Amino acid sequence: MAKVLVTGGLGFIGSHTVVELVNAGYDPIIIDDLSNSNIAILNQIAKIIGFKPAFYQFDLCDATALNQFILKEDNINGIIHFAASKAVGESVDNPLKYYRNNLYSLVNILEAYKGKDVSLVFSSSCTVYGQPDELPVTENAPVKPAQSPYGNTKQISEEILKDAVAAGSAKKVISLRYFNPVGAHPSALIGELPIGTPQNLVPFITQSAIGKRGKITVFGDDYNTKDGSCVRDYIHVVDLAKAHIAALNLLGNGFTGYDVFNLGTGQGSTVLEIVNAFEKVTGIKLNYEIGPRRAGDVEQVWGDVSKSTKKLNWKTELNIETMMLSAWEWEKYLAANPL
Ligand code: UD1
Repeated sequence: MAKVLVTGGLGFIGSHTVVELVNAGYDPIIIDDLSNSNIAILNQIAKIIGFKPAFYQFDLCDATALNQFILKEDNINGIIHFAASKAVGESVDNPLKYYRNNLYSLVNILEAYKGKDVSLVFSSSCTVYGQPDELPVTENAPVKPAQSPYGNTKQISEEILKDAVAAGSAKKVISLRYFNPVGAHPSALIGELPIGTPQNLVPFITQSAIGKRGKITVFGDDYNTKDGSCVRDYIHVVDLAKAHIAALNLLGNGFTGYDVFNLGTGQGSTVLEIVNAFEKVTGIKLNYEIGPRRAGDVEQVWGDVSKSTKKLNWKTELNIETMMLSAWEWEKYLAANPL
């Protein structure tokens, strides 16, 4: 059974991907430093898959710890590298933390596996496109100057990967540019688990609905969109997780070199449409107000996903309603079963 290292495997997307790896017959091994995740998620994963996956707790910026790990787990076939800091605002306040965490860890992984026949899947973001000139945005669109140190780490990471492949240090690498991952596993046993006040829309909505947070602020209703609020391409985290399996399958089937793929649904939704969808599927009236625009937000972005549909042989299956309902079921689970 092919062994796949999942860095950040206890995080939101990582945990769902671990479950899908097992469903697809892979053997996941998790590294996570718990800096933005909860060890209880390991047990939650075990409840879904029926066993506790192998888990190592260390910071990937620590090259010695990584080399010790490799001595123990020397037959890794693939790596999915999620582990990174991802709060845009924090990255503006503390850029060096972001450059260190996100870049050192990637370089350490590349050095540790240099020249080996290992598939690598990297978590990138549609943030690399900034506000695209044309929508839906394709993978060929120019990368725009980053709006934040966080966004810059994704751009630099993609450059590092491209250069490493060109030099033969890495053989086969795919960067996946995620749009807006939301929702939770249908079991409601895993989902997004923000530490502190959620910065992202959907966890803020669910926490507000359950009474953990106050009023939701819709950041701006004066954009040039159908209802004035920003447009994003929300994708169910389970669909997103499955795309990682599709990428690994491609990498394992003769692919060499470097490529990038958009992962979204190809559909844009406004903030107000998300609010309305949540209210419709849950029957809960949300307490929200219109506030000023948030600094650094792009007006609208959604992806052209024809390349990933074709080359990864993958497509999304879950709609906005399922995204909202599953996120809500997870929030209710958490309220009844604090982790
Ligand atoms: C953000 C980052 C993106 C990153 C992702 C990681 C920015 C500009 N982009 O995506 O680079 O990869 O997080 O998680 O920060 N909104 C509200 N009220 C809220 C929260 C959000 O109206 O309380 C709106 C935002 O203005 C935006 C939409 O909801 O239009 C989605 O916001 P969010 O979930 O934070 O994701 P992004 O900003 O798209």
